[in-house]
Amino acid sequence: MKKIYIPILLICLNSFEQTNTTVKGLVVDKAMVVSAREEASKIGAEIMQKGGNAFDAMVATELALAVAYPYAGNLGGGGFMVFRKANGEVGSLDYREKAPLAATKNMFLDKDGNVIKGKSTESPLAIGVPGTIAGVFAVHDKYGSMPMSEILKPVIALAEKGVIVTKKQAQRLSDYHDELIKINGTGSLYSKLYKEYDTIKYPALASTLRRISKNGRNEFYKGQTAKKMVKYLKEKGGIITMKDLAKYEAKWRAPLSFTYKDLKVISMAPPSSGGICLAQILKMIEPYELSKMGHNSAQSIQVIVEAERRAYADRSYFLGDPDFVKIPLKELMDDNYLKERMSSFNLDRATLSSQIKEGKITYNESTETTHYSIVDQFGNAIAATTTLNDGFGSKYYCDELGFFLNNEMDDFSAKPGEPNMFGLVGNEANSIAPQKRMLSSMTPTIVEKNGKLFMVVGSPGGSTIITSVLQTILNVYEYNLGMQEAVNVPRFHHQWLPDVITFEPNTFDSTTFEKLKTKGYLINEKTTPVIGKVDAILILPDGKIEGGADFRGDDKAVGY
Ligand code: GLY
Repeated sequence: MKKIYIPILLICLNSFEQTNTTVKGLVVDKAMVVSAREEASKIGAEIMQKGGNAFDAMVATELALAVAYPYAGNLGGGGFMVFRKANGEVGSLDYREKAPLAATKNMFLDKDGNVIKGKSTESPLAIGVPGTIAGVFAVHDKYGSMPMSEILKPVIALAEKGVIVTKKQAQRLSDYHDELIKINGTGSLYSKLYKEYDTIKYPALASTLRRISKNGRNEFYKGQTAKKMVKYLKEKGGIITMKDLAKYEAKWRAPLSFTYKDLKVISMAPPSSGGICLAQILKMIEPYELSKMGHNSAQSIQVIVEAERRAYADRSYFLGDPDFVKIPLKELMDDNYLKERMSSFNLDRATLSSQIKEGKITYNESTETTHYSIVDQFGNAIAATTTLNDGFGSKYYCDELGFFLNNEMDDFSAKPGEPNMFGLVGNEANSIAPQKRMLSSMTPTIVEKNGKLFMVVGSPGGSTIITSVLQTILNVYEYNLGMQEAVNVPRFHHQWLPDVITFEPNTFDSTTFEKLKTKGYLINEKTTPVIGKVDAILILPDGKIEGGADFRGDDKAVGY
């Protein structure tokens, strides 16, 4: 297990009001990108410096992450994007993967109806129809201001020049090396073991991007790239066809907006659970005086955990692809309903998850994804989260095309009502069907205060995405932390089942644990190295913008 480093100053912070604001992120006047890699943030920021807007920068950053951060950045995956234009207009784009036409409800079960271990994660059947290229073209068609070829130029140049391996990346590549060889053999780009400071060049990806730049979106969904991808997948035993690719569409959806005190929060609606869970949790904790309870104090942890427990229980039962299942969004966000949900909680004792009724069911997700936040010189803002699901997705790397394919099919419930291979259970709303989108936790979020842009935030981390975004917003709003501080401070997580609070190791004091234990809470601080990896932007009172780039990764804010 990796230990995380939290600056000493921050470990001791239980009463934040006594703290000087010594940790500052990058502060700039005009425009900023915060992402998982400096190379991607830089390319996005330079697009804006050349006069492009946040939407142009989104396209550049998304694809630059596919080059510089292949762990989660992708052409072979999908994601969600939430935007707020300078004039206050908000919107969101769903470019989540879809189940192929040949997918079936029981495709990951054996003849006795049991889940076949690894089939939804490590087999070619784990791959959903990718949405990223449709996503960036949808964004560009509607809101872009620069020619696509100009946006893609620096991304292609980066793929050709190559990217220097960081220490953390070398570690990840080493951790996954055996799996990558198992899937791709010894002659693949990732068969070599790379060290820190090595440069990895991506000529095949550069060629694919060049064709996309020349031929447009259809190159990926109908053209040579599509044909090569389908041929590759067929050889491996996959089921994605030319028809699947041709039918794929990214979808503009109404974002999920709600208030928390004097904030307006704009987040992603289903098929992501992010926005609805965030709304439920914030609404449930709104009546409590968190700021008086103290940052990361036992009491504030209790309140947040109890709200999380109840929201995740609802998530597991009600949520899925809204094009396939009816989701009672209004009811789930109703004030009276949420008040009633919290009525069984008191500060003396933990509520047990077994007492929280709502299905014996939850979801099935892994932890690797990536988020980036953008604010441009015109005042437009973008929060986008994109994923291959696991680190390097399914590990299927098409050397001819230069990208990994996702294993997003694992985000479906392979067997509704039964525990999955991770000990989690799924439900009917999120069962597999052809063309359906699998439920996500991605939570790209934009926050307004007094009608003005206030914060852009999001995180990777599977089920911990929602609670990481939640805590970052609370850290700024309730505890007056700056953006970088709000990202740095230790996080905790509860997701109904399993009924434990997970803490980032070596970051919370034993007194807090003792207080929680005496009230019946189960504590886990051993099995999660980090919770979330937040990249966020805050608009400061003087109009400048502060970045919060998570030190838990190689993340970086770049702006001007
Ligand atoms: N694959 C992670 C998520 O969509 O939440």
